[in-house]
Amino acid sequence: MKIIMLGAPGAGKGTQAKKIAEKYGLPHVSTGDIFRANIKNGTPLGIEAKKYMDEGKLVPDELTVKILLDRVAQDDCKNGYILDGFPRTIPQAEVLDKALTELNDKIDYAIDVEVPDENIINRMGGRRACLACGATYHVVFNAPKKEGICDACGKELVLRDDDAPETVKKRLDVYHEQTQPLIDFYNKKGILKEVDGTKEMNDVFNAIVSILDK
Ligand code: AP5
Ligand code: MG
Repeated sequence: MKIIMLGAPGAGKGTQAKKIAEKYGLPHVSTGDIFRANIKNGTPLGIEAKKYMDEGKLVPDELTVKILLDRVAQDDCKNGYILDGFPRTIPQAEVLDKALTELNDKIDYAIDVEVPDENIINRMGGRRACLACGATYHVVFNAPKKEGICDACGKELVLRDDDAPETVKKRLDVYHEQTQPLIDFYNKKGILKEVDGTKEMNDVFNAIVSILDK
């Protein structure tokens, strides 16, 4: 099964993708997590990506597409994967489509997690992220067992550099301009599924499971 998670920054794509990955035994592939791991390790890719991410802009397609195609060509992606944060532009979606078609393959579902901008701004200030394993928490809605420490891997939780309110606003603008058109793109392909992302996390998850288990 190949799944794309769509939705605004902070809609809960990462939160849900992790849960789906666990339940269905699929790898969770997040381009944002890949970039953040590279930034943390000071790689040339990380240094380049950080310039864009800190401003709330998208990393250029040429760079992003290559990273993603390399990642899904790895062995653990043979039986499927969940893409979180990719594609984010129509050209990225077209490249993915072409690569899959060449393999006689396709995406099964594009799940759009819908959350209005007002809710997003409130959520982001409370988010805490683990840069080691990609787990995401919220100080109110999904607190870790021990404050500041990742339940999954025991590493320190941080506030993401791009979660400052001004940067979140910029990311939302970029989302509406460049990423939202993908909803129409996948709707036309007949694989778009929408879920209400303002609901409680487990309710959102159950809505997604009922789509995937149909
Ligand atoms: P990326 O890491 O993908 O960030 P994003 O899309 O902005 O999304 P977020 O990770 O901020 O939000 P999310 O939807 O995963 O929400 P989460 O589950 O954490 O990308 C970062 C940057 O990298 C981009 O800006 C860009 O520069 C670059 N980049 C990445 N991919 C790229 C690409 N393909 N092309 C070009 N550039 C790319 O949830 C948010 C918070 O809300 C958490 O605290 C969570 O606990 C909480 N929460 C979740 N669900 C609920 C709920 N139902 N109720 C209450 N709280 C909830
Ligand atoms: Mg995320």
